[in-house]
Amino acid sequence: MFELRAIEKRFDAVVALNGAHLHVEPGEIRALLGSNGSGKSTMIKVLAGLVNPNKGEILIDGEPVEIHSGQDSRRLGIATAFQDLSLVPTMSVRDNILLGNEPCNKFGIVDRKAGDDLIDALLARFHIDCDPNAYVQTLTPSTQTMLEVAKAVSLKPRLLLLDEVTAALHYDEIEVLFSVMRELKEEGVAMIYVTHRMNEVFQVCDTTTIMRSGETVTEGKMSDFTLDDIVYYMTGQRPEKGDGTAAHGHFHAEDKTPLLDVKNLSIFPRVRDLSLRAYQGEIIGIGGLQGQGQSEFIRALLGAEPFQEGTIEYDGRSVAFKSPAQAVKGGMGFISGERNREAMFPLRTIEENILAGKVAKGNLFAYMTPKSNHAFANDAVEKYSIKIGELGHPASSLSGGNQQKLVVARWIAMQPKLLLLDDPTKGVDIHSRQEIHKILRQCADEGMTVIISSSESEELLSISDRIYVFYEGCVSAMLSGDKKTPEMLVAAMMGMTGGSQTSEEGVQS
Ligand SMILES: Nc1ncnc2c1ncn2[C@@H]1O[C@H](COP(=O)(O)OP(=O)(O)OP(=O)(O)O)[C@@H](O)[C@H]1O
Ligand SMILES: [Mg+2]
Repeated sequence: MFELRAIEKRFDAVVALNGAHLHVEPGEIRALLGSNGSGKSTMIKVLAGLVNPNKGEILIDGEPVEIHSGQDSRRLGIATAFQDLSLVPTMSVRDNILLGNEPCNKFGIVDRKAGDDLIDALLARFHIDCDPNAYVQTLTPSTQTMLEVAKAVSLKPRLLLLDEVTAALHYDEIEVLFSVMRELKEEGVAMIYVTHRMNEVFQVCDTTTIMRSGETVTEGKMSDFTLDDIVYYMTGQRPEKGDGTAAHGHFHAEDKTPLLDVKNLSIFPRVRDLSLRAYQGEIIGIGGLQGQGQSEFIRALLGAEPFQEGTIEYDGRSVAFKSPAQAVKGGMGFISGERNREAMFPLRTIEENILAGKVAKGNLFAYMTPKSNHAFANDAVEKYSIKIGELGHPASSLSGGNQQKLVVARWIAMQPKLLLLDDPTKGVDIHSRQEIHKILRQCADEGMTVIISSSESEELLSISDRIYVFYEGCVSAMLSGDKKTPEMLVAAMMGMTGGSQTSEEGVQS
């Protein structure tokens, strides 16, 4: 049994852990839950040897142990897939997994063939389709995440720590991960599983430990908790009834001209003949399995990627933006779930990160004073309940979900005409996610048009007025009204278009 007792950890003035505890048995999958900034990743890092607690004990099978480094952790049979991946982007897949673990023959000489076989088997087990010699940075974010998990599993740990690995994964990849987790469970591996996707917890976890503000507030068998209970322990409040779903589906578009009218768009090689419309004040969802052309589509709208055929009419004129900067000047905003790559400046302060959007828009620049900036940043922090130490701290000091909220706050504050969101609530806890949904709905009611691509079905269904489902670079269905159900969405994601074709209520020509 692995156990953490009365763990305290301070980062200067920020108390990350305040007497937290956690335990897990062999063959048990334990969900570690809590709001953004509650201390989950810090607990994981204590076990992984990346964070030295100020106080507390770690016990394995009842014996106290010391974990001061990654090596200590591995030597004790612990392997970790981190929230912010630990792979080296400029190294190959093979080297990332085998470095330091290269199999040797009986003479102690590196056995390349055995290494190759090991990699092949591992990639096959995780259904990862990539060249072992490819540089990790060339792989998609979700493939990188699968590799991060595969690498941890390849160490044959007794305790496997998984910190929000599914945030970047899609439906089909999550299924693969869960089946591997179930196999490991049969083999007696203990697992600690951190996620904000509540349906997963009920699907795959046996037990849970729930944290709030650095403390363990409750623990027990998964079957003893309802979703409401979990939210209650995470936040200290019972969820308001009818809160989870923003009002939607009330939109009538027939008599208006669209803000965005995309016709027969082709983006080589992923997207072909794609048409989509969005009206002012509407929230459009984009659904689909991974890699069906969603990101290419959004990037083309933004001018981050050229398109070869078709037209984009936006705000009354035909556009083909040459760069995102042009699109932003034209009144578009873009929020990416890939905050590290595309959206955040980790070393700049929290305040600078919030203000970056205003600066990018340019025309507001003249009115900025240190005082108004400060007030602006403070408002954003409050409105989105971003848990911070001080505005002057670097953005990298925030927990994963709070970093994401920072990016969301920045763009919404700019009040774009068309806001494009690519998996914006990735890693954001269930309560804050509802808050962000509410804010988006408010923005839409005030006239903003929102296009949101999400890998999570619940999110799409709860927030969108209409959902375009992408399949192999085309729209396989447009769901609205009573067609907007989980079943229809899943069917359309699989390419089964059924009766809900893209022409409906005159919305689509
Ligand atoms: N290196 C650091 N420097 C300063 N503060 C830190 C550091 N690491 C974590 N913190 C703070 O400790 C608290 C707990 O962070 P942690 O990353 O453990 O949260 P979390 O529960 O994993 O949240 P999330 O769900 O958003 O990932 C947060 O307030 C965070 O800002
Ligand atoms: Mg975390």
